[in-house]
Amino acid sequence: MDITALRNITYGLYVVGTNDNGRPTGCIINTCFQVTSENPIVAISMNKNNYTHDVIVRHRKFSLAILAEESDTSLITTFGFQSSRNKNKYEGYDYSWKDDVPILNGKFSGHIICEVLHFANNETHDVIFARVTDTIADDGTPMTYAYYHNVIKGKAPKNAPTYVKEETAPGTNQPKPGKRYVCEVCGYIHEGELPDDFKCPICQAPRNCFKEI
Ligand SMILES: Cc1cc2nc3c(=O)[nH]c(=O)nc-3n(C[C@H](O)[C@H](O)[C@H](O)COP(=O)(O)O)c2cc1C
Repeated sequence: MDITALRNITYGLYVVGTNDNGRPTGCIINTCFQVTSENPIVAISMNKNNYTHDVIVRHRKFSLAILAEESDTSLITTFGFQSSRNKNKYEGYDYSWKDDVPILNGKFSGHIICEVLHFANNETHDVIFARVTDTIADDGTPMTYAYYHNVIKGKAPKNAPTYVKEETAPGTNQPKPGKRYVCEVCGYIHEGELPDDFKCPICQAPRNCFKEI
């Protein structure tokens, strides 16, 4: 199947934050949409392998920080390519607690606080439907998924619903021509030779963190 059309579905980017028995935990998602307008319900798609999934199952509350173009882009590397299983992702970021969930401080397009209503099982992912219990306004320009790809040159990791295997050219089973390297820290793909002093443009990882694919 040619999946090119799926790449044209538009999204934003969000940090989902939740509460692991007092420890703030969370991850990046691009899949969030408003389901109803009155007494609003939203939905997010969460990979069952994400630690954030397990914590939301237990805690049943989460926050959504709507990423802005002005937001600190290191949030994407920290929250989107590492796991709270073995890292305290909120360390080094300014945050506060509200209604038992962490709220990141800094520039965003707003924050939404949610209480889980139900989980819909979809093979690898649960779609989590949740009641909006509060919101915090902010005036950053919402970061679209297209901006993330085209301006920040970011990729989707394995657990994102939009993940595309990078070994083949889009929509084909043919390997892409030329040398390609993946940053093992954040998933950024570099095409062409790697200079000796190369650093990942997304997460600043050094050359030895790149593996040829
Ligand atoms: C741009 C981007 C979009 C992502 N979108 C989703 C998503 O919609 N759903 C999801 O489950 N994971 C998504 N992920 C993957 C998780 O953020 C990632 O697997 C994270 O390391 C999980 O951390 P955790 O184990 O602490 O929960 C996305 C990651 C990135 C970088």
